[in-house]
Order: sequence, then structure tokens, then C-alpha cells
Amino acid sequence: MAREKWGTKLGFMLAAMGSAVGLGNIWRFSFVAGNNGGGAFLILYLLFVVLIGVPLLLTEVSIGRKAESDVIGSFKKLAPKTPWYLTGFFGIASAFLILSFYAVVAGWAMFYFWNYINGSFFTSPDVGYEGAFGQFISHSWHPIIWTALFMTLTIVIVLGGVKRGIEAANRIFMPLLAVLMIVLAFFSLSLDGASEGMKFLFTPDWSALSDPSIYIAALGQAFFSLSLGMGAMLTYGSYLKKENKLPSATLGIGLMDTFFAVISGIVIFPAVFAFGIDPSSGPPLVFITLPTIFEQMPFGGVVGLIFFFALVLASLSSSVSILEVPTAYFMRAFGWSRFATSVLMGSIMFVMGIGVSLGFGVWSGVTPIGDLGILDSMDYIASNILLPLGGLSMALLVGWFLKKSEALEATDLSNSPIGGFWHFIVKYLAPILIVIIFLNAVGLLSVIFPFL
Ligand code: PHE
Repeated sequence: MAREKWGTKLGFMLAAMGSAVGLGNIWRFSFVAGNNGGGAFLILYLLFVVLIGVPLLLTEVSIGRKAESDVIGSFKKLAPKTPWYLTGFFGIASAFLILSFYAVVAGWAMFYFWNYINGSFFTSPDVGYEGAFGQFISHSWHPIIWTALFMTLTIVIVLGGVKRGIEAANRIFMPLLAVLMIVLAFFSLSLDGASEGMKFLFTPDWSALSDPSIYIAALGQAFFSLSLGMGAMLTYGSYLKKENKLPSATLGIGLMDTFFAVISGIVIFPAVFAFGIDPSSGPPLVFITLPTIFEQMPFGGVVGLIFFFALVLASLSSSVSILEVPTAYFMRAFGWSRFATSVLMGSIMFVMGIGVSLGFGVWSGVTPIGDLGILDSMDYIASNILLPLGGLSMALLVGWFLKKSEALEATDLSNSPIGGFWHFIVKYLAPILIVIIFLNAVGLLSVIFPFL
């Protein structure tokens, strides 16, 4: 059977933007920035997006398009008879880890959408939004129903192929989400005390840079938000036709993704300070802040309804790209049908998601890594370690294994003035930065280089 292809280049762009923009921009960005001191984190994150993220995005998509295969098959094709393909399993593993918590959080967003439909979040519940949210996520089965619903939608889209559903939905919902975010940003800025939030986000406290964990957090956020290192963009790239040009497409994806992250910071942090919420409250941060903002707004109930609808769709367009990674691999490697593969993979992720959800209730004392709970631990391993490792492997493959001329051709940069610059980044700068950040995070940098 011939491999599926995108209908148009725009279709690919929309799907890739849909993959990039999601909970990572709004939910994950806000709490990771909040945990890491705000301004200094934002700058590092932006730096990593420009220096590592966008060049690697181009690299990843080009691998897929050149090899026309999934994350494992592509390594096998481009580096035959080497063990390189084994690094593809970082991508498969991170897909399982990430989607199983992603579906839980997207389930929370669906529950919020539901509460705006039936009006119960128009005004603060008796226990307050924070209390209501706490009760909800710690419930033994209630949030799991929403996880199941979200996972089912994801599976349905993936098993139907992506052309009609996801391409079409993104065309409408991404602009809608963008407009809403801008309206919300202005509203949030008009709140008393908003300037505190803007200061937090835009006045870097440089002393935060002395903590090694901020670098790995910013790197992980750049990878997560750009859907990088897992093979999602690689797999999407493999459905591209050769004549579609890559550099402008990847730049567009990077810009769009960054725009959403910065705007959501401008929405969240002014409100966080105006309402006296703790910026480092972790994963629940936006779920407490947003309804509080909506309640203060004229027509806040309607805004909330549309917002969470758009957020759920943005999450869906990301989750399908994650599920597509193992689906594409297992279909090819084992000859299974798309139907059976996507249902099986999605079901395994759902079962893992049950554990994540219980981590906010009966298993809240379970801390697999340090003092991190179940969701945070899975997120740490996947986003901060596996994704950058996947990206590192792709950079080394294209930078060192392929000839420079092949690499430039694969990325449509053969005749471009930035070709040499891109190649330098992928061959040297990005790998070195990633390795330094890793060494720094495990405390080895100062052991190897005592003068630092
Ligand atoms: N980029 C997506 C988001 O920001 C999440 C994602 C990560 C998607 C990795 C695919 C691969 O929500």
C-alpha cells in the first residue's frame, strides 16, 4: 500500500502548527515559567527556540521527508546497518509518557468546557475555583472519564487518517484561539496589580540563572512546545511531497508557537498577581487563574466556553500527532492495520493515564523522582531528557552522518545564504549546547570543567 500524503502544503503547515500549539503553550509554559522565576526563564526559552529549536525542527521534518518513514524506519533508511535506529525508541517512549499525561490534562480542559456549557463556572463555586478544581482532580474516577473521552477522540481522528479532520478543524480553531488569547491578554493587563505580573514575566531576575535546573527546564519546554525530538514532526514530514519547501514552513511553525507561548504568559501572569495566586503552583496554575479571569470579565461565561473549546481542539491537534508516532511505527514494522494499531496504542496510553490521574488523588504521595509526583516525573523524563536526546540524535545524523550537500538538499537549503549557518548549528552548536545542559543538570559540568 502506498504511504499516505498530505493534500497540500498548507495542510501540512496546519497539522504541524496544530501539533506545536497545544497545552504546551498555555498550560505547561505557564507553570514551568512560574516555577522557574519568570523573566529569566522566558529569555532562555526564547534563546533555545531560536538557536536550537527552529533549526532542529527543520532537521527533523527533513529527515522524515527524505526517508519517507516513521521515527525508527527513517533512521534505518538514512543510516543503514548502524544501531542509530535504536535512538528512535526515545521517540516512541516519550510518545507514551507524554500522551498519557497530556490526555489527563486535556480531559481537565474538557471538564472545564462542560462547566461553561452548563453554566456552573460562570460564578465561583462555593469552594472557589481552586477548591472545585482540587476536588475534581483528586476524585478517583471522575477525571478519568474525561481522559477516556479525550483519548477516544484522539484515536478516532488518528484511525481516520489526518487529512479531512485535523486539517479542516485547525483552519478554524487556531485563528479563533489566537484572537481569544489577544482579547484575554488585554483584559488581563487591565486588572489591578497586572504590572506585577508583567514585571515577573519581562524583568529577568538574573540570579535565577545560577540554578542549573532552569537551563534544562527551558530546553525541555522548547522541545515540548515545538513538538521536537519525538518524531512527531518527522512522521508528519514523511507525508510531505518532495516539492514542498521546508525552511519557510518550519519558520512559520516556530513563530506561531512562540507567539502563543508569549501571549499566554501575558494572559496568565498579570492575573496570577492580581488575584494573589502563587506563580509556582505547578500544573493546576492555569486551571485556577483562567476561570478567575473569566468571572471578572463582561460575558466571561461565553468567553470561557469558547476558550476551553478552542483549547480542547488545540490539544487534540497535538495529541493526534503524538499518537501518530507509535501508530506509524507499529503499522509499518508489524504490518498491523491503522485501526488496530491506533486503538491498541491509545488504550495503553489511557491505562497509563489512569495512573497519572490517580497521582492527584489516592496516589498523591507517590513521587518517582525526588519530590516530583507522577505527572511531573513522567513529564521530566520525557520532555527534559528523552526529547532532547531524540533531537540530539537527529542533529548528529544530519550534521555528521549525511554529507553536507545531502543535508542541505534534504532541507531545501542548497542555494540558500543561510544554509552554511544552519549546518553549523546542527553539526556543532545544538549538539554541544544540549550536552552542556545535560552535564550541568546532573552536576557534572563543574566536575569536568572545574574553572567554571
Ligand atoms: N507541542 C505540543 C504542545 O505544545 C505537545 C507535543 C509534544 C506534541 C511533543 C507532539 C510532540 O502542546
